[in-house]
Amino acid sequence: MLSTQTLRSLASKAALLRPLPQPYLASMNPALWSDSTHQRTDIVCHPHSGMKKPSPSPPPHKPNNFPNTYVNSLQRRHQITCTPPPALGTFRPPAMQHWEARPDRSLGSFGEGSTFTVPTMSYESLFDEETSGANDELLAHLYATGIVLVKGTPTDDEGMRALADCVTGGHPTGKSKGGGPLRTLYGEVWHTSVGSQDKATSTADSAYTSDSLPLHTDMTYHSTPPGLQIFNMATPAADGTGASTYLDGFAAAERLRTKNADAFDFLTSTAFTYRSVDADMGWHLEASGPVIQLDPVDQHTVASVRHNDLDRLAAVPPPAVREQGEEEEALWYERMERAFSAWDGVITEPGRRLIIKLEAGDCTIVHNRRVMHGRESFTLKEGDAARSIVGCYTDADNLESRWRACFTKDIIKNKERFGTAKA
Ligand SMILES: [Fe+2]
Repeated sequence: MLSTQTLRSLASKAALLRPLPQPYLASMNPALWSDSTHQRTDIVCHPHSGMKKPSPSPPPHKPNNFPNTYVNSLQRRHQITCTPPPALGTFRPPAMQHWEARPDRSLGSFGEGSTFTVPTMSYESLFDEETSGANDELLAHLYATGIVLVKGTPTDDEGMRALADCVTGGHPTGKSKGGGPLRTLYGEVWHTSVGSQDKATSTADSAYTSDSLPLHTDMTYHSTPPGLQIFNMATPAADGTGASTYLDGFAAAERLRTKNADAFDFLTSTAFTYRSVDADMGWHLEASGPVIQLDPVDQHTVASVRHNDLDRLAAVPPPAVREQGEEEEALWYERMERAFSAWDGVITEPGRRLIIKLEAGDCTIVHNRRVMHGRESFTLKEGDAARSIVGCYTDADNLESRWRACFTKDIIKNKERFGTAKA
C-alpha cells in the first residue's frame, strides 16, 4: 500500500503533466499577441472614441505546440507569477530554499554553527566587467534565500545608489537604466545616525534608538511594501553589541501551515492595518493586508509576509462578524489571539533566528516581503563612535521584473533550442 506522502507526490507529478486547458491554449495563440509589444491584438476599439468593439473570431489554433518546459513551468508554483509569451520561452528560476538558522551540533556546541550559510558576495564583483554574471548570481541568491551579504560595500550614499541600481535597475544586460533607491518618508538613502540624516526626512521610528528591535518586515504601512531592504553597516557598535537578526518568513509561514491550520487560515484571510505617523514632517501612512499573503492566482503559495507588531493597529472584526453580535465578535477576537500566539510561537522557535555581527562595509540585501529583520540592543559609551547604518529600499515590482527577465533571458537567447511555439 502506498503511503500518504507517496500518493501526494504522485498527485503533484500528475498535476504537472496535465495538458493546459483549451481556453488557455486558445487565448495564448501566438497569433493573438503582438510580437513587438507583447500585448493582445484581439482587443478592438473605435479609432476615435476608444469604445471597445466586439473581438473578431480567433484564428484556428494548433493546441500541442508549446514546449513541455513551458507547460510544466505554468503548472509549477513559483515565488512570483510569471507567464512569458511562449515565443519568449520559459520561466525557470532557481529552487527556493527555505531556511532556519538552527545550529548544527556537529559543527560545535549549541550556538556556534548554523545549518544555513548566508550567500556572500563582494561589492567589487558586482561591478567588475570580468565577473559580469555576478548580478545574475545576486538575483538568483535573492530569489532562493531572500538574503545576500555583500562584503566591502562603500559606506557613502553613492555606494547605496549603485547597489540599488545594480539589483533593480532595468535590463540585466545593462541596456536600460532605472530602478535605484525607492523614495520614501525616509528619503532615498537613509542613515540611522541622526546627524547624517537628510533634514527633510522622517526619523519617527524605533530604528533611531539603541533599543533592541523585534523581528519585522519594513514599511508594512505601504500598500506595496518595498521589495528589498539594503542595509549597510557603516560603523558597528564599539563593544560588538547590536547584532542584526533575520528570519525566513516563508519558512515560518510554511511551519505555521503544518503546525496550526486554523491560525494559518486566519492570518492569510484577515487584513490588518499598519500605520506610521510623523506629525512634524506631515506623514500619516496607513495600509492594510494579511500577515501572510497567498499568491492571488494560485491561492496557495505564500507570496509575501507583512509583519510588524509595533506598527499594527488594533483590529476590528469584519462587518459580517459584527452583524452577528457580541458573542461572535468575542469568538473572532479569541481566534485572532490564538492565531497570533501560534505565529509568535513559530517565530520564537529556538534556532529559527539568524544572528549576524555585521562589520563595517557588510551590507545585507534582504527580500523585505519575505525575510524579517531585527536588532539586538547596543550600548552607547561616551567617546565611542556611534553605531551607524546607511541604507535604502528598492521597489518590489522592479525586483520581480528583474527576476522574470533574468530567469527567462537565456531562453530568449536560445529560443530556437526550445521552439518558438508559433501556430
Ligand atoms: Fe526595519
